[in-house]
Amino acid sequence: MLSADLLVYPIGELATPDCNGPARGHALGKITRITDGAVAISNGKVVLAGPAAQVLNEIDATKATVIDASRKVVTPGLVDPHTHLVFEGNRANEFLMRCQGKTYAEIADSGGGIVASMSATRNATLEALVASGLKRLGRMLASGTTTCEVKTGYGLDTDSELRMLQAIMVLAEIQSIDLVPTFMPAHAFPPGSNREHYINEIVNVMLPRAMELVQEASGGRDGILFNDVFCDKGYFTLAETKTILEAGERLGCKSKVHSDEFVSLGATALAADMGAASADHLLSVTDDDIARLASSKTIAVLLPGTSFFLNLKDHAPARKMIDAGVAVALGSDFNPGSCHVSSLPMIWGLACLHLKMTVEEALSALTCNAAYAVGLGDSIGQLRAGRQADLVIYDVERLEEIPYNIGWNPVSMVIKKGCLVYQKASD
Ligand code: NIG
Ligand code: FE
Repeated sequence: MLSADLLVYPIGELATPDCNGPARGHALGKITRITDGAVAISNGKVVLAGPAAQVLNEIDATKATVIDASRKVVTPGLVDPHTHLVFEGNRANEFLMRCQGKTYAEIADSGGGIVASMSATRNATLEALVASGLKRLGRMLASGTTTCEVKTGYGLDTDSELRMLQAIMVLAEIQSIDLVPTFMPAHAFPPGSNREHYINEIVNVMLPRAMELVQEASGGRDGILFNDVFCDKGYFTLAETKTILEAGERLGCKSKVHSDEFVSLGATALAADMGAASADHLLSVTDDDIARLASSKTIAVLLPGTSFFLNLKDHAPARKMIDAGVAVALGSDFNPGSCHVSSLPMIWGLACLHLKMTVEEALSALTCNAAYAVGLGDSIGQLRAGRQADLVIYDVERLEEIPYNIGWNPVSMVIKKGCLVYQKASD
């Protein structure tokens, strides 16, 4: 008989996706919801998750520590597949400008936007970047995030981009959330730069050095590094995007792309054709590109916090994508400008309200599919035997109360690799 060292029991409602590979179409909303559940954990991995009667019958839990989640909901740890969490300063001034009706493009044209954060970030030491990142990650953990992708992209020169990457790697070592690094010097052109020179520098200097840094830090194991480009009007063209992503792939990076956030330039089809890990944003994705995504392995990462925070009328056409068979994930896009929202329960609420996703679809998109978007779908994102024991326990009785409680953090406890790493003070 298998034994457990940790038992989460009783559980008011246990909810988890249960699928092999990214969930598409109807499968996205087909999650397992069990009243009176239990999760047995051993050595940081799930041994069995299911109805309490079955778990107690099949698993020896006599020596297990027990965490009581009665009248609470339990889901897999939430996975944020898209953040710009390392930066210095803030852009509250831009928020006020937007409240007065200015658009993201107008604010960027008047000296705000990515390059405003660039100046502050370039002036920050590694220690300062780590300190502010650590605070933000603490808030994310308290909102149920157990794995988080983090991009560079506010340095926009070799030294500053590598310092951001280093900050991500230090942060990965000193707190509980697993971090997945993405290199993104192609977030914007630094002011006054020559396009061709900057792209050559990314391809010939920055990407090789970033890859070296990641390999050194992984101590010989193959460290994962994603490479992302902001392909949009005023940022990188389709041809430039292709050049940068292909250069990354030659070095062993996996590709991601900020695609169709404002204007559709063809990056979604490029991502699908290249077999990129994800195409993100997709507010203005075309029907043709939806069809291409549906027949590719590229995950569509939708970011409803951004369209909310930018005060846009239109949101990504999630229903169309799900119905066409695209593998849809959700993320926060947490960053200082276009989305200063890092809470995934809040993103869950926005996905239901603005993207018209069901509660169950949003859960799959925030766990299973988000995990696939960062290359970790086979180890996290579902509560089933053999998966990493990352769990969130919420102080609500039914799953739908998580998105419903938009703006109030329902997270009560977080378990990471079988250890209790967060507990709400009042509990
Ligand atoms: O994902 N689109 C590009 N990058 C961010 C915005 C970053 C910023 O404004 O600082 C985004 O929305
Ligand atoms: Fe982004």
